[in-house]
Amino acid sequence: MKSIYNPDYIEDLFDKMSASYARMNYITSFGFSTRWRRQCVQSINIPAGATVADLMTGMGECWSDILNETGKGGRIIALDFSEGMLQHAYKRLTKMQNARIDILKANVFDNEIPDQSVDAVISGFGIKTFSESQLTDLANEIHRILKPGGSFSLIDVSVPTPGLLRRLYMFYLKNIIPILGWLFLGNPETYKMLGIYTEHFQNSEKATEIFRKEGFEVEMTRFFYGCATGIKGKRQG
Ligand SMILES: C[S@@+](CC[C@H](N)C(=O)[O-])C[C@H]1O[C@@H](n2cnc3c(N)ncnc32)[C@H](O)[C@@H]1O
Repeated sequence: MKSIYNPDYIEDLFDKMSASYARMNYITSFGFSTRWRRQCVQSINIPAGATVADLMTGMGECWSDILNETGKGGRIIALDFSEGMLQHAYKRLTKMQNARIDILKANVFDNEIPDQSVDAVISGFGIKTFSESQLTDLANEIHRILKPGGSFSLIDVSVPTPGLLRRLYMFYLKNIIPILGWLFLGNPETYKMLGIYTEHFQNSEKATEIFRKEGFEVEMTRFFYGCATGIKGKRQG
């Protein structure tokens, strides 16, 4: 059996989820996902005209928030490896004709974004499917592509701080979401994985430590009692 962190396994999972991802992402975050993405993007200083890498871009859900910061002179390099998710990203792109967005179909650990070429890196809900060693590789990759002084901000669904909310949220993720997945997709197994990844990931604390070790100035943020956590930081100049 493939590890849940095997990139082929994850690519296949998102290909299968792509038909229902937009709806399910909204539901699994109780409708907070839109606000969390915006907060993730606005939590760092993205200058007008900046080039921004949107890693694990999915269907391009972060693009409008990024372009609100960069203005028309900005450019997005949108990277993802799931053909299913990217089909929706291409559709979104046709509706944003004046935007400079380059979609890159690639594994984030093997991509052609040049060294020190981007002013900022964003990722919405793209890190919970990474193991600790993959998070180290991700930190190195972000360090490689960011210009000195550039910033990054990542956010993902997390296990809330202990208490009633944690019990309710984890029950919801592990029991209710698979049922909704079955209703929308006819497949509860795929959406079961969301609870499993979230439980393994817990929150962005480990990632924060890893990014600090790799030489970034970093800070972790909790959103809505820790139902999502973010990590943001800077590559030193
Ligand atoms: C939960 S979705 C997030 C999509 C979007 N950023 C959002 O805000 O909703 C995670 C995305 O990460 C992509 N992904 C996961 N591992 C990846 C990897 N190693 N390389 C490239 N993309 C990856 C998946 O294909 C999926 O589209």
